[in-house]
Amino acid sequence: MCGIVGFIGQEQAAPILLEGLSRLEYRGYNSAGVAVFDAEAGTLAVLTREGIRCYDHLMQPIEKEIVSIDWEIDAAEKGGYEHFMFKEIMEQPQALRRCLSPRIREGEVVFENFSLSQAYIRNMSRIYIVACGSSYHVGMVGKYHLERLTRVPVEVALASEFRYMDPIVDEHTLVIVISQSGETLDTMAALREARRLGAHILSIVNVVGSSIARESDQVLYTWAGPEIAVATTKAYTTQLALLSLLALWLGRQLGTVPDGEYRAAVTAFQELPGKMEQVLSQRDDIQYFASKYFNHNPIFFIGRNLDYALGLEGSLKLKEISYIHSEAYASGELKHGTISLIEEGTLVVALGTYGRLFSKAMSNVVEVKARGAAVLALTAESRREEMARTADAVMTIPDIHELLLPCLGVVPLQLFAYYVALMRGCDIDKPRNLAKSVTVE
Ligand code: AGP
Repeated sequence: MCGIVGFIGQEQAAPILLEGLSRLEYRGYNSAGVAVFDAEAGTLAVLTREGIRCYDHLMQPIEKEIVSIDWEIDAAEKGGYEHFMFKEIMEQPQALRRCLSPRIREGEVVFENFSLSQAYIRNMSRIYIVACGSSYHVGMVGKYHLERLTRVPVEVALASEFRYMDPIVDEHTLVIVISQSGETLDTMAALREARRLGAHILSIVNVVGSSIARESDQVLYTWAGPEIAVATTKAYTTQLALLSLLALWLGRQLGTVPDGEYRAAVTAFQELPGKMEQVLSQRDDIQYFASKYFNHNPIFFIGRNLDYALGLEGSLKLKEISYIHSEAYASGELKHGTISLIEEGTLVVALGTYGRLFSKAMSNVVEVKARGAAVLALTAESRREEMARTADAVMTIPDIHELLLPCLGVVPLQLFAYYVALMRGCDIDKPRNLAKSVTVE
């Protein structure tokens, strides 16, 4: 994490203590330039016309690796969109192409310079996924995929809980750290605890050269480009696609994925950006549903398995930008208490994209309708007619391999949250009380 002290000239610099940089120390410097502190590592870089010089915390000269970041400046502009969030929702197909294309060659998934040896992969006893917020929701989906494709036990932990739960981690544990910003302090602390316990650290990160990337044994960059809106969208879908691709690749290495499924899944990854463009082209339908339901409060999301993990993200998107109270529940849990909250007119977003459990999803729709709920359903196009017989309204996504259902299914939920917040006059790109990168515990 770097804090910019400001222009240094003849001792005139005034240290600017940026939010969350509690350990920033000012050291005077007597040459024109910009000093950049890395509070984490206690190093200082001074940028002048002559070049860049780096110093350690004792002001001794040190050498630092130059990492080039090829983000375009205009990517940080709105490009004609009303909000960064909408721009970033619309950018998802090309972000996915940037993320996936270099990793699928001639029908094979390719991870170059991968530090996990075949021996390590075969001896992996457990995978831990640690993250916060939407990145944690990526991990929830990843657990389903990794366990089904590799048969390796997977735990998903909130990073803020991980180091206090006495985790069972050793040298045979692969810890996957997920963070868009690569600066989330809770996640960094979990990474350091996992390393102390002997784990191999693989991180999935968007910001190149970020602190978490620098402290990992292996980094998979999502290449989503700069994400400005506080509510993550393209970083989330590229993280999800990348973790799903990794699950497929690990299964291939372990021989636990049948060749036919592997080929079908690879084809689905290649079709994903185009199918996402189809979903985005239907955004007016989503805007219509948002206009019908934007005054509902609370709003519940229900789903099973992949649809439960999808519901967690849909619910977070809605609550963080529209301030509507929303919760996501595993549908099977409704009868164990939550259903008492359903009353006449309560809006339930029922997720039924996962074909294997569609009949269960339908029975949960009937269950909440019987208590007076209004149901906005999300399902695959092939199931639209069946779902429409019971739900009040139906959003659909094109049919796709189950590995990519949450990646595609989240887009209508992102759009729903966006349009609801727009109609409620909320500050969409900078929601109250939230920061893009949470660098405090
Ligand atoms: C996402 O919409 C939220 N703004 C937030 O939950 C975010 O996902 C979380 O803070 C983790 O951030 P990271 O991915 O940069 O670590």
